[in-house]
Amino acid sequence: MAFPENFINELVERSDIVDVVSGYVRLGKRSGSNLFGLCPFHSEKTPSFSVSPDKQIYHCFGCGKGGGVINFIMEIENLSFPEAVEFLARRAGMPIPEQTDDRESRRRARMLALNRDAARFFYSQLSTPAGRAARDYMAGRRIGSATATNFGLGAAPDSWDSLLRAMEAKGYTGQELFEAGLARRGKNGGFYDSFRNRLMFPVIDVRGNVIGFSGRILEDGEPKYMNSPETPVFSKSRNLFALNLAKKSKSGYIILSEGNIDVVSLHQAGFDSAVASLGTSLTPEQARLISRYTDQIIIAYDNDGAGQKASQRAIGILEKLDVRVKVLRMSGAKDPDEFIKRKGADAFRNLLDASENQVDYRLRNVTDKYDLNVDEQKVDFLKEATELVARLPGAVERQVYSMRVASMAGVAADVVSGEVERKRKRLLSRAQRSDQREQSRPERQLQPAEKGLRYEDPCSAAAEEGLIRLLYLDPALSRETELPEPEEFSSQALGRIYSAIRARIDRGEEVSAAVLGGELSLNEMSLLVGILQKPELLSRGGRALRDYIKRIRERKELAAGETDLRELASRLRERKGYEG
Ligand code: GTP
Ligand code: MN
Repeated sequence: MAFPENFINELVERSDIVDVVSGYVRLGKRSGSNLFGLCPFHSEKTPSFSVSPDKQIYHCFGCGKGGGVINFIMEIENLSFPEAVEFLARRAGMPIPEQTDDRESRRRARMLALNRDAARFFYSQLSTPAGRAARDYMAGRRIGSATATNFGLGAAPDSWDSLLRAMEAKGYTGQELFEAGLARRGKNGGFYDSFRNRLMFPVIDVRGNVIGFSGRILEDGEPKYMNSPETPVFSKSRNLFALNLAKKSKSGYIILSEGNIDVVSLHQAGFDSAVASLGTSLTPEQARLISRYTDQIIIAYDNDGAGQKASQRAIGILEKLDVRVKVLRMSGAKDPDEFIKRKGADAFRNLLDASENQVDYRLRNVTDKYDLNVDEQKVDFLKEATELVARLPGAVERQVYSMRVASMAGVAADVVSGEVERKRKRLLSRAQRSDQREQSRPERQLQPAEKGLRYEDPCSAAAEEGLIRLLYLDPALSRETELPEPEEFSSQALGRIYSAIRARIDRGEEVSAAVLGGELSLNEMSLLVGILQKPELLSRGGRALRDYIKRIRERKELAAGETDLRELASRLRERKGYEG
């Protein structure tokens, strides 16, 4: 680990998890020794996010996320382990010790350097004959050279290896380009450039690192955009294109658009706070990231059905944060880029000024569907509009919009607000029921709550979990009997957790969420904390330990037997093939 262990321990001691979490989550209800609040990592109406002051861990019974205080900061602030440590150290007023050089951070640094060099290479190509097609394309879309420089746009030449050769000349290997997503591997084992004949948009994070690329095709064709894959430095769901520039804007809001070209065009027209999500619809992580830089977001998505749907979804995500959300209404153009080209920057400025807050926007979408002069349609309108108003979180807000709806339909205000409150009660109790149902589904008890993880053998996994829980809670038990090897586990994830815990016990080191947080991934930590939530009787620990081990070995033999049978069957089939 990069930091000295006593430093981490002191840091965790000075960063009480209740204090830290309270900066993000309102912790109310106490149940047993745990505090509960609404989970910041998934949306819910009844609190299933728990913090244990005794164990100094958090755990969400709904989405399964969990860990120690450092993991919490990693998750919510979108930081790596060393960054989260730094963050907490600053908060606790502790000086940060020299980091011993760690392999993973060296690898990241090297990848960032490669990305930066690649971005410089693409940019330099713009002024060579190889960059001619991209240059012409930019001219066609009226992207000027100052804008190109501002964004660091570039050209990937129409060649299989020009980036590869340029980077090899700088000392990078094909394998390094491959790992960064800049090269692919050919059938003969050699490498070739991933991005060819494209206009290149470097993706730069808020710290100024080039973390990945987005490349647009220069003519009509598929795929229109190619993005860097997920790498140790790039996650497209956690970053936004141009946020590095937009965060410096003085405008007081951030414009959220769909396309890279829209963003470039908006900045060129003076709207320097435009960003775009990277080819995905807006994610909660991206929303949280934006909300760190602004308290007002204006959605300016494409002017088509897909854009409207995307707007509704983005509203759903953004309204959970403490930001004002407005939606821009555009007509006569398919996207902001086209609008600005047709009607100019001033016209776009007018649209920004006239953009509606999200409730007005949604209410108008409902209104547009009905003819309020027809009684039947008026009834349908009232049904849908009261449903919408009932979902608004603030009581005053609900009152104001109830009055608005009433006057639009020409009915008495208290009729509408009565209906709204009735619907709201129903919604709340429905939400409570579904949260409870979700948590008590039987398969949920056996399978980890953490998404993307499934136990192949839940029966063995339960024993593996038990073993982990016992050793974590009482490391001395490890001397009671001979322990299995991690390879004997049926679940690789559990095997990794087990092996990290065992290694610490074998070295006589402390076992805690804080120190394990530096060795296990966030998902593994969540899994571990989930396991710790289940009850275990330590008074009969030795006995339970042996039972767990026995079950793991029995299941392993059974699985091996099944594999043998399957092999036998396939051998028999083959033989039949020979004979028949
Ligand atoms: P123009 O058509 O040139 O105006 O492009 P645009 O930059 O406005 O992009 P568009 O509105 O078509 O798409 C919005 C965003 O979706 C793009 O910026 C990309 O991030 C993403 N995107 C579009 N097409 C593809 C694709 O084929 N593959 C991937 N991975 N992402 C895409
Ligand atoms: Mn577009």
